[in-house]
Amino acid sequence: MAKLKKAVFPVAGFGSRFLPVTKASPKEMMPVVDKPLIQYAVEEAAAAGITDMIFVTGRHKRAIEDHFDKAYELETELERKGKEALLQQVRSVLPEGVRCIYIRQPEPLGLGHAVLCAQPVVGDDPFAVLLADDLMDSQPPALARMAAIFEREQCSLLGVEEVPSDQTESYGIVTIDAMQDDTARMRAIVEKPKPAQAPSNLAVIGRYVLTPRIFQLLAAVTPGAGGEIQLTDAISAMLSHERALAVRLPGRRFDCGSKLGYLQATVELGVRHPEVGAAFTRYLKSR
Ligand code: G1P
Repeated sequence: MAKLKKAVFPVAGFGSRFLPVTKASPKEMMPVVDKPLIQYAVEEAAAAGITDMIFVTGRHKRAIEDHFDKAYELETELERKGKEALLQQVRSVLPEGVRCIYIRQPEPLGLGHAVLCAQPVVGDDPFAVLLADDLMDSQPPALARMAAIFEREQCSLLGVEEVPSDQTESYGIVTIDAMQDDTARMRAIVEKPKPAQAPSNLAVIGRYVLTPRIFQLLAAVTPGAGGEIQLTDAISAMLSHERALAVRLPGRRFDCGSKLGYLQATVELGVRHPEVGAAFTRYLKSR
């Protein structure tokens, strides 16, 4: 039985919804309180038992590699000054037992193309895809739930959530059989339909578990919505070969690719932060 050990993080996007901050800095390095978005995603993957973190990166994304690398000068300096707590924080950025692999996506041809770039490393194994701008706030972590379902079902899984009907144009939208225990067989999927054409308001959020068959289907996909190679179109093709399930994920999702979602995440995680949470809560109440 295949176990989930690999995760792909497509991080080559421009982050144009967040300009100008993303002009020269990766959107995945934007902090929510004191950790960058990509670190939340990597921690979530590690908590689901993933050991190989595969980043599909592009130009201007070096900061992500540096973030997960050893920081010799900084660590030596903190050690010399006896700043143990900070040293621990710096050293624990990369969860134990985990390795990072970087692949370049030479052109921004779409999410499907980014995932296809990971094929030489993923090979013939099942794998997860995490979009770091969907910050999942849940205990147990969202991907851990999907990994447990994958172990039982051995098929592709997509995280889903109901969205307001006027927002279907921002998401992949699925048609499913009846939900049972928050999972349901998927019957169809379409990328970013206009509300009038949307088959439902059940949206795909940035968590996937995919079987390696997706690669051969991605290789055959032609540009779809927005002129991009869409992962959604390959998943749609997959439905005629294999069973796939939609999984309603526990907890709350923050769309940190949008300014409002990002601010909401900052407030929610800020009020719970061990160091500043109490003072921040008092501040929010007093203003
Ligand atoms: C991508 C996918 C879309 C999915 C969304 C989740 O869109 O193409 O199907 O619903 O992520 O965040 P993007 O947000 O990259 O436009």
